[in-house]
Amino acid sequence: TDAQYQQHFDDKIAADISIEAKDWMPDAYRQNLIRQIGQHAHSEVVGMLPEANWLTRAPTLRRKAVLLAKVQDEAGHGLYLYSAAETLGCSRQDIYQKMLDGKMKYSSIFNYPTLNWADIGVIGWLVDGAAIVNQVALCRASYGPYARAMVKICKEESFHQRQGYEAVMAMAKGSEQQKAMLQDAINRFWWPVLMMFGPSDTDSPHSAQSMAWKIKRHSNDELRQKFVDNTVPQLEALGMSAPDADLAWDEASGHYRFGEIDWSELHEVIKGRGQCNHERLQAKRRAWDEGAWVREGALAHAAKNTSTAA
Ligand code: ACO
Repeated sequence: TDAQYQQHFDDKIAADISIEAKDWMPDAYRQNLIRQIGQHAHSEVVGMLPEANWLTRAPTLRRKAVLLAKVQDEAGHGLYLYSAAETLGCSRQDIYQKMLDGKMKYSSIFNYPTLNWADIGVIGWLVDGAAIVNQVALCRASYGPYARAMVKICKEESFHQRQGYEAVMAMAKGSEQQKAMLQDAINRFWWPVLMMFGPSDTDSPHSAQSMAWKIKRHSNDELRQKFVDNTVPQLEALGMSAPDADLAWDEASGHYRFGEIDWSELHEVIKGRGQCNHERLQAKRRAWDEGAWVREGALAHAAKNTSTAA
């Protein structure tokens, strides 16, 4: 009976046994995972755009080759995640279309522009650094295909974070102009990066259920705090600062305290009114339309191979 299936599911969650694609699961669990994994996949592929903006203008051939590889990795992450979402019974084309139609979200962070080369280093260091803090926790998510995709993604993501830190280190040791560019990039990205972790725990509608299902292992605020604690020593090592007068070490709690996030900005960006929302969706729609001939060709080729095999 359904009650027995539910009991079996609950027992597995309690015992930390992963839920696999063919296992019975409550419909709300399935739908919540399609939502989160789908948004996550969209973030990976939309996330290629701000960095791709600098591929043709990377300062050296070495930096260009590394950035090209990184942007390709992001496409790969999108593919693993779309595949993980498909194991839940949704169609990749359907969720992709929902993203193109603005009916499914992707991370707020990719709605900010990349104005100079320092932004590319800062994205690797801070944006991918934040993504890792969030994704390491998801390696233990209760849904097996998602957790396993995260393990591979985290390995690549930590390479991305290091290439970003290596790029910002070079700028931090450079001319006064380079240092100023780096500080400007940090000033623009700092708060949006803190917003990547989502609304505060008191304002996060999905958290309680996702924690009970062990999809999320830590709350939005816990992960945000962990990121700040990891990052402040790195900022200091670079000789840079965060645009937050309230940022200070708190001996009693063993954490860095930080100022209040402007939640209205996060809500505006999530609602589609950030600086680049329109431009990002336009770029993805154009790529989808201009890629129609590739999809047709690939389908025709697959059909030909099937008929030859038969
Ligand atoms: N950008 C866009 N939307 C967000 C963001 C954000 N930074 N934070 C929260 N939201 C959305 C949620 O998706 C949810 O919207 P929905 O109900 O329409 O689906 C709503 O705001 C409320 O938030 P929560 O209840 O806190 O949602 P949730 O429990 O899903 O937590 C979180 C949000 C932490 C982002 C979670 O979905 C998650 O861990 N996702 C996987 C990680 C991810 O997507 N990373 C992408 C960026 S990193 C990268 O790609 C390099």
